[in-house]
Amino acid sequence: MVAFMIDILAKKALHYMKPLIRTDLPGPRASEFIRKDSQLVSQSYTRVYPLVVEKAKGLWVRDVDGNRFLDFTAGIAVTSTGHCHPEVVRAIRDQAGKLIHMSGTDFYYEPQIILAEKLAKIANMTGGARVFFGNSGAEAVEASFKLARYHTRREYAIAFFGAFHGRTMGALSLTASKAYQKKYFHPLVPGIIHVPYPNCYRCPYGLCQPTCGQACVRWIEDPIFRTSISPEEVAAIFVEPIQGEGGYIVPPAEFHVELAKLAKKYGILLVADEIQSGMGRTGRMFAMEHFGVEPDIMALAKGIASGMPLGAMIAGPKLMDWPAGSHASTFGGNPISCRAALATIALLEAGLIENAAARGSQLMAGLRQLQENFECMGDVRGKGLMVGVEFVRDRASRQIAPDLRDSVVQAAFRAGLLLLGCGESTLRFCPALTISAEEVNTGLSIFEKTLKKLL
Ligand SMILES: Cc1ncc(COP(=O)(O)O)c(C=O)c1O
Repeated sequence: MVAFMIDILAKKALHYMKPLIRTDLPGPRASEFIRKDSQLVSQSYTRVYPLVVEKAKGLWVRDVDGNRFLDFTAGIAVTSTGHCHPEVVRAIRDQAGKLIHMSGTDFYYEPQIILAEKLAKIANMTGGARVFFGNSGAEAVEASFKLARYHTRREYAIAFFGAFHGRTMGALSLTASKAYQKKYFHPLVPGIIHVPYPNCYRCPYGLCQPTCGQACVRWIEDPIFRTSISPEEVAAIFVEPIQGEGGYIVPPAEFHVELAKLAKKYGILLVADEIQSGMGRTGRMFAMEHFGVEPDIMALAKGIASGMPLGAMIAGPKLMDWPAGSHASTFGGNPISCRAALATIALLEAGLIENAAARGSQLMAGLRQLQENFECMGDVRGKGLMVGVEFVRDRASRQIAPDLRDSVVQAAFRAGLLLLGCGESTLRFCPALTISAEEVNTGLSIFEKTLKKLL
């Protein structure tokens, strides 16, 4: 009872917290770490501001100089239950004292089996499901790609422009987000065709909803299947239910339904990359639920274990017909990650998904209200707590404004709000699903002040 009261009081205290910036940014300790990092750590990482984190709780991040930030990034949409949720920490601690590793590839252990059971249940696939465990989103995508080829014995795959599926060779080949992500890494995996994603704010065909007749789906049949590849040779279509790194782009309601119909018509597997959009973030357990579509394969990672490394590929038992040895991972499905995932899913089901929907509506309404005053906020879109604001030079031209977007990210950081960009000119808001109404308002208020200061 006492512990419960303390938890409530701590939560209350956290909700009324404000950012606190007490040093230059970066502060002296952060500067020293960044100097060392610049000599020792791969330069391929893309740090956009000099944040050196010491610890974090809920939505609040403390840097090594004692500055406090409100985190609207959730570590790139990962810490779904907030930083260091007590239930997740308890599960991790408990499991660490029992079994850290044994390799689910060669041995059995309880957490992996129990998590597979849980994931199969929430995936809710007709005919049930099996789960393959990896350590990351890219691995979940690789597994999906390999299984699709194995099961269908077909070579080709279709993916979308703007898609981000990861950085390992297979996942990178499916990715078409930013050219520099692929530069000098060719030749990539052959047999992948990219087609336009339905971005209705910037329709690739210059058309409008609903009269476009789902041109983005039709394009696959004509010209792709008519001129370039036979559908009988296509193993899978990889699609993000809501495009993430590509700019938090929400497709029109019918898109996924039509895409699923097309896939079914030709015996092509539909792979939903729910790595960023899944695990309750959009106000449903999986974003595909908004569209009423059941994919053949689902790839999960990011928010699945609140920050512990875990990826999962889920597919029906008939589809997952590969034999022993065809695919595996030493670390995949690590017992601690599996326990963290079970604790995470329990919290999502106990109210965080509803909270994502409610706080997402609040955030979206707040941003739409700001949009009325700020011409540069071209489009405000999203579902639940997967919300994007696309910056433009002006509403009429819709010309992208990446420099402005980047300035907002920097200025918000200096004001104590952590944000990240995505796509060419979009700012993403993807806070933890534990976010309170007060924290949404704090974030909105800093965002508004930042815009006023910059414009
Ligand atoms: C939709 C999607 N798929 C795959 C990935 C790759 O995940 P990871 O970085 O864990 O390999 C990401 C990462 O941003 C993603 O957003």
